[in-house]
Amino acid sequence: MERYGAVILAAGKGTRMKSNYCKVLHAVAGRPMLGYVLDAVRNLRLEKICVVVGHQADDVVHRFDSSDLNFVIQEPQMGTGHAVKQCSKLFQGFSGHVLIMCGDTPLVTPQLLSDFISFHESRSSKLTVLTTRLENPFGYGRVDVDDHGIVLRIVEERDSDQIEKLIKEINTGIYLVQSQLLFDLLENLKNDNDQNEYYLTDLISEAHGANVRPLAFHTEQDTVVVGVNSRNDLAKVNSLMWNSIRNRLMSEGVTLLDPGTFYPDGDVTIGFDTTICPNVMISGSSSIGEECYIEPGCVINDSTIGNRVRILSGSKLDKVEVDSDVFIGPMAHLRPETKIGRRVKIGNFVEIKKSIVGVGSKASHLTYLGDSQIGENVNIGCGTITCNYDGKTKHPTIIEDRCFVGSDVQFVAPVRVGSGSVIGAGSTITKDVPKNSLAVARSKQKVFPLRFGQGLATKNEDR
Ligand code: UD1
Ligand code: CA
Repeated sequence: MERYGAVILAAGKGTRMKSNYCKVLHAVAGRPMLGYVLDAVRNLRLEKICVVVGHQADDVVHRFDSSDLNFVIQEPQMGTGHAVKQCSKLFQGFSGHVLIMCGDTPLVTPQLLSDFISFHESRSSKLTVLTTRLENPFGYGRVDVDDHGIVLRIVEERDSDQIEKLIKEINTGIYLVQSQLLFDLLENLKNDNDQNEYYLTDLISEAHGANVRPLAFHTEQDTVVVGVNSRNDLAKVNSLMWNSIRNRLMSEGVTLLDPGTFYPDGDVTIGFDTTICPNVMISGSSSIGEECYIEPGCVINDSTIGNRVRILSGSKLDKVEVDSDVFIGPMAHLRPETKIGRRVKIGNFVEIKKSIVGVGSKASHLTYLGDSQIGENVNIGCGTITCNYDGKTKHPTIIEDRCFVGSDVQFVAPVRVGSGSVIGAGSTITKDVPKNSLAVARSKQKVFPLRFGQGLATKNEDR
């Protein structure tokens, strides 16, 4: 096998995205699109990978910094040909071939790239362009290929005439070029086009001038080479990516009631016989166990969920760990650093932050637990609030095993309730409660007789 290196172009601003953020950092199924391109290229185990950065270079480097990547700055950004040229030093003396790709083509697969390399090698080609046919080729460079598979020229959409616009064979922006030839030809590029940029596509005419015949490698996989230039393309690529993740999950034994409205990130794993209802988002590195049931409108991020967990509609879970056989929701909000034990029930309008809830405990209604540690088999009554914040610092609330907390109780933290204790409804608990005690902290009920006319209105019209 010949020697290979890669150049990935990621310096452009992505003007057509109309964004404050550089294009290659825009997310596809939760990950910046450049990440997918890097994964596909890494899979080929090439000798070196150069990433050309320019617009918001610091952000791109910061996001992807890794010892196997060489970042090269292109400043200012004067076109795709100019971008590749910035890598000439890194390829000085390199006798192999260079795979050139764009960072805005996130659906590309390692299989397609390795087929491309095999083709290039089998023809002993010095310059090969990966092409496909699109029914709607708008925006792409059109490739003029002769009957022998030789590329005659590539013309950009904005530089093309009416006849050229009819060509449906397009340039995917993926090339293989013999390294020495590449950097020699790049020296000759001119910017006499509509954008006054140095187009990489002009390599074709330069190659003909040097008596090199550029070949086309045509793929039928027209969806994997879609490039993202606009929000519309981004939506299309996201939808293709989600579809492939959904298909994987279904093949792994997950029921999706309405696959098109489930939005999973690529790293999400879900166990056998779990059912996902419509309009659910599961993102980050979340993992959901077996036989779970996730109702409509739930959002789960970076969380680990055990088996047989029911998450009822409208609940949001972010960076939490939930053990098996748990009920959550509807409308529950579980926030980071929360751990929910087995057989716990978290009911409607319950918010939990940075707390541990022990096995078999319940907080069924309208409750806030923050910075708290709830033991096993504890009942937290409706409307309980841990007052964890004094305006400056957060303080812990500890409620030990088998406590029963009545409704509408406030725990003014820091405070600890010993095991087996009972807190009377409506109490504001400011001091520790020893174990096996009853604590009631509210004023006694007083009853006064009313004189006539002091109480509720007596006639309809007075109400
Ligand atoms: C490019 C091709 C077009 C092809 C299409 C495939 C050229 C001139 N055109 O067009 O034939 O059909 O890709 O998707 O090559 N970039 C830089 N520096 C620059 C300019 C761009 O690094 O100065 C990077 C961008 O970040 C991007 C990639 O190069 O990742 C492609 O640039 P883009 O502007 O998207 O090119 P297209 O118009 O899509
Ligand atoms: Ca593009």
